[in-house]
Amino acid sequence: MSTVILIAGGSCSGKSTLCSTALSRVEPAGVVIPTDNFYKDLSSFSEEQLLNHNFDMPSAIDKDWLCSAVESLAESKPAEVPVYDFSTHTRTSETKIIQPAEFVFIEGLFTLCQQELLVLASLKVFVECPADIRLARRIIRDTSERGRGVESVINQYLSTVRPMHEKYIYPSREEADCVFDGEGDMEQITDDLIDKIYGLRKSG
Ligand code: ADP
Ligand code: C5P
Ligand code: MG
Repeated sequence: MSTVILIAGGSCSGKSTLCSTALSRVEPAGVVIPTDNFYKDLSSFSEEQLLNHNFDMPSAIDKDWLCSAVESLAESKPAEVPVYDFSTHTRTSETKIIQPAEFVFIEGLFTLCQQELLVLASLKVFVECPADIRLARRIIRDTSERGRGVESVINQYLSTVRPMHEKYIYPSREEADCVFDGEGDMEQITDDLIDKIYGLRKSG
């Protein structure tokens, strides 16, 4: 069996960055599944429907596919995952086969909101970061990496990202075994996470 680690937190709290630094350090090996890959395909939506779509509630994700992929990896079996394109809000036609590894990191907004994932996890982490920092990071990231304009990022933040954070994501912090500072030094946060992961071996 592999060890499943859930990493949750608000948008731009630092989940993806933390997982990629942890992945480069953890031994013998790890694998990361961003739940963002499992956003439902919206290729049939019009431009206006896309602009108004709520991507920040749990139902925006294909939960069944996500959970079955995590179950496979937890049993040290390969999993097939979709590939998502943020600039077009669609799934590409390819899928990716993820090979199992001793440590399986599942990172995304709703990882601590889903009972099916909570029961598979040995460690549950919440990355906490103030809203103003997350918004500032998101404007930079979404304009440079996800093909968005500043005004659209701010409108989306105010209409869905912020209210859904308060409704679903922040309350899921209650499920966490540990909370990391999303404004902290990434090397330090990574050290702390690796210590927690290796601590799991000692505790059982
Ligand atoms: P998430 O996956 O939670 O949405 P990311 O890991 O993509 O967030 O981080 C969003 C942006 O914030 C990235 O540009 C990243 O470099 C930056 N960032 C994340 N964590 C930190 C941190 N602890 N200190 C400084 N910048 C950070
Ligand atoms: O990496 P991060 O946790 O920020 O990714 C989740 C965010 O991606 C959500 O807050 C959601 O608003 C955004 N998203 C988007 N467009 C999509 C899919 C997700 O803006 N097509
Ligand atoms: Mg991310």
